[in-house]
Amino acid sequence: MTAQLNPRGDVAVLVPAAGAGVRLGPGAPKALRPLAGEPLLVHAVRRIAAAPSVHTIVVAAPAADVESVRLLLAPVAPVTVVPGGAERQASVAAALAAVPAGPEIILVHDAARALTPPELVESVAAAVRGGHDAVIPVLPVVDTVKEVDAGERVLGTVDRAALRAVQTPQGFRRSVLTAAHEAAGDALTDDAGLVEKLGVAVVCVPGSELALKITRPFDLALAEHLLATGA
Ligand code: C5P
Repeated sequence: MTAQLNPRGDVAVLVPAAGAGVRLGPGAPKALRPLAGEPLLVHAVRRIAAAPSVHTIVVAAPAADVESVRLLLAPVAPVTVVPGGAERQASVAAALAAVPAGPEIILVHDAARALTPPELVESVAAAVRGGHDAVIPVLPVVDTVKEVDAGERVLGTVDRAALRAVQTPQGFRRSVLTAAHEAAGDALTDDAGLVEKLGVAVVCVPGSELALKITRPFDLALAEHLLATGA
């Protein structure tokens, strides 16, 4: 059954899903790789649609797959699908341009974080609603981190207490994300980075282990296990 989105919701979620996913090995675009028999993108969209504040979902798909992604997601949730760009940033910009008037909170969420719980979507949105311009979910860094030179020689040890691993969805006041994309220069790997360049404060909220980014074959195996145990 198709999950209905909330017409009174104040959140639009952009899902860049146009990457090739070469680190997962050869095969379909990453967002369309199967996880327990369904594409990663289906898992991701199902969880976004279950978050009560979500009014609109816009997916940026590989240009060649726009029609098939529309058909794939039609039974999952009402979703707008647009062609993505060559870089993640261009895919996000294309999705942002397709958001209708209404939602003033915009979340940007990687399809590759397919098991992200709806509660994380809600907590990021709530922090923006509560007055923050830009909000990112983070986890502490558990490994010791070294800075190295090009020859893999250690230059120093970084204080991990001051480091955070950043996840998605990242949440923004709509006007802030629009301004950040208009001002964007070099392609960055996340949207908060563009907002930081504007000088806007970005605040952290607790992330979720379930929001892991499925990038390598090991992550896919871990995600299969998590799903089998109830994620
Ligand atoms: O390549 P990376 O793992 O950083 O991609 C993060 C997310 O951005 C993925 O969901 C991927 O599909 C998406 N992406 C995109 N358009 C691109 C490159 C990546 O939508 N050109």
